[in-house]
Amino acid sequence: MVDVKQILSQMTTEEKIGQLMQHNANMFIDSSAAVTGDNSNKLGLSQKVINTVGSVLNFCSSVEMRTIQDMHLKNDRNKIPMLFMMDVVHGFRTIFPIPLALGCSFDPNLAARCSEMAADEATAGGVQVTFTPMVDYVRDARWGRVMETCGEEPLLNGMMGAAQIRAFRGKSLSDKTSMATCVKHFAAYGGAEAGRDYNTVELSEHILREYYLPAYKACIDAGADMIMPAFNTLNGIPATVNFWLMKKVLKEEWGFSGIVISDFNAIGDLERHGITNDEKTAARLAFENGCDIEMVSNTYTHCLKELIEKGVFTEEQLDDAVLKVLNLKNNLGMFEDPYHGADIQENSERFLTPEHRATARKAAEECAVLLKNDGILPLSPQVEKIALIGPFADNHEIIGFWSCNGKNEESVTVSEGIHAAAPNTEITVTRGCGNLYDDCDRSGFDAAVKAAAAADVVILCLGEPQNYSGEGNSRADITLTGLQDELAAAVANANKNIVALTFSGRPLALTELEKNVRAILHMWFPGTEGGSAAANLLFGYANPCGKLSMTFPRAVGQCPIYYNHTNTGKPKFFPDDKHQPYASNYIDCPNSPLFPFGHGLSYSNFKYENLELSDDVLYNNSKIEVSVTVKNCSDTVGKETVMLYMRDLFASNSRPVQQLIAFEKAEFAADETKTFKFNITAPMLGFWNNENKFVTEDGVFQISTGCADRLILTENLTFISNAE
Ligand code: BGC
Repeated sequence: MVDVKQILSQMTTEEKIGQLMQHNANMFIDSSAAVTGDNSNKLGLSQKVINTVGSVLNFCSSVEMRTIQDMHLKNDRNKIPMLFMMDVVHGFRTIFPIPLALGCSFDPNLAARCSEMAADEATAGGVQVTFTPMVDYVRDARWGRVMETCGEEPLLNGMMGAAQIRAFRGKSLSDKTSMATCVKHFAAYGGAEAGRDYNTVELSEHILREYYLPAYKACIDAGADMIMPAFNTLNGIPATVNFWLMKKVLKEEWGFSGIVISDFNAIGDLERHGITNDEKTAARLAFENGCDIEMVSNTYTHCLKELIEKGVFTEEQLDDAVLKVLNLKNNLGMFEDPYHGADIQENSERFLTPEHRATARKAAEECAVLLKNDGILPLSPQVEKIALIGPFADNHEIIGFWSCNGKNEESVTVSEGIHAAAPNTEITVTRGCGNLYDDCDRSGFDAAVKAAAAADVVILCLGEPQNYSGEGNSRADITLTGLQDELAAAVANANKNIVALTFSGRPLALTELEKNVRAILHMWFPGTEGGSAAANLLFGYANPCGKLSMTFPRAVGQCPIYYNHTNTGKPKFFPDDKHQPYASNYIDCPNSPLFPFGHGLSYSNFKYENLELSDDVLYNNSKIEVSVTVKNCSDTVGKETVMLYMRDLFASNSRPVQQLIAFEKAEFAADETKTFKFNITAPMLGFWNNENKFVTEDGVFQISTGCADRLILTENLTFISNAE
């Protein structure tokens, strides 16, 4: 460790401001030059930039990172190493399932294992800080960035984010495989109107506090080193300069003392938000609202010095921000090893190890969700003829958006996985059609129908392209793209034994497909080992155990659709497929989703019994133990996530019809019975009322197990706050 205060005392104001600047690597050097080591014609102006910034994003490799660091340190009189940051979202070179898929595992330990391996590879690749976890709460599948979050449940989102933070950070940040983390995007980026990325967010404070804020808080409590304000306006004011959000909540209420880093050009974007077209005002607003590092735009370099000279800010305020950056560098051990263990070669031996691949496969198996199965699955490996049809039948592009340094060609395709799992089966592979939204070429249909007619089983591999989700990739229609539904119908005319394997970065409206197939196994974007995982699940070498962490609507018009909605004053009593006049429902679509939150089938058969409460009255500071017995009534080993829900029947604020308050996942041997115990305390039953106070109100609460809209067992308890 070095004495950073001593270093700070020697720095000029410009040098300090440099520590608060982050630039894209391509500002400095072209990557081919980094690879060849020939920087001769790449210096000049860029060397000046290198000397004046504190951190870098979007570089290519450890070789490039080392080159830039060397160029910087050679000239920096203070010898302060730069930090290299990247979005290590679901793996670095070995790619794990997308975060939304990980949410469906309901297993924070699995998320942690994936993050540990991602950190091992990313540090070898020259990254010291990751812009993860992203814990934006989401309810609208049109938004492309739902793939980066764990879904529509605040408790789950927070637990997964916290687990990832602990795993990335390891035992000590100075360990060569540990990384610093940045929770994002604060706040409510996922509340974008109409699911269109970067769009306006207007939310009441109590809804914000109840659903949107808890996961960020859980991540801060877990030790997040940095936080990134969101791109959107929140109730009229861009998050980056939103006083209520950044100062009142983040600093005053939560006491966050880590680094705030703006999102990509977010301070520059203030002009387009219509807040100011003057750089000085932009810099002032961002700095006074606590933004320490400016990403990509240059308002701090251009204006902060003048703002200090004019007395708008003091040198001490600047020092506070700079000290945070220096401390992070110090804690990461950058002054001792400015490469933080980064490999000297581009292709580190730490990438894609058999252990990492095995974990990626296991994770993909645990994240897949069996949405429908009439008994056709699992398939026998002895099946004689399989027709493998669809744009994902033999497609490497299954690793998903934000795949860092992952390479599509290193992924296992479904075809490769199935050939390996069923070596004696005759397999015909044909694409059928493409999957771009405007694909209209039916020329592959005939071959697909012919293959289907000749096969015992059809495996139909459909979905949206991987760049239809992720940043900037919202969709107004979330059905299968192009002619895929039509392909499914044509194939179903030739052979009814269809298993659909679906791929996407968001919940899709699979209503048409569902009518034509006997099973749907949703793979999300499963990562590098996706094809092996799919094959293992199809043939029963692995047992599906994922449960949806985000609702699958029937139609895009139902969005936003989520399990923890309120009842309304005119709920529907008619069967859901019939329209009820003067009730909250649609004429042309049921209210229910196609597949609800918590849904996910298994090859085992779990039976829930004996939901028991240790008492039926709960007081402040007391607790009630809930137990439920779950039996695996099958001879197949399997995992089940047992979920505990509650409903506050009457309160000053209309409460959701269901709310998840606890869950536990466990493996069951054949015929094994397990009893699960959960404690219920008063805060678990509370909510943010209209005065924005967290309260638990007296009254009756329903406690249930099952999945959100298919509750299996329910018991009541009464909460009394002031016991005589
Ligand atoms: C995204 C962030 C990301 C940053 C740096 C932005 O466009 O919104 O999530 O961390 O780029 O890559």
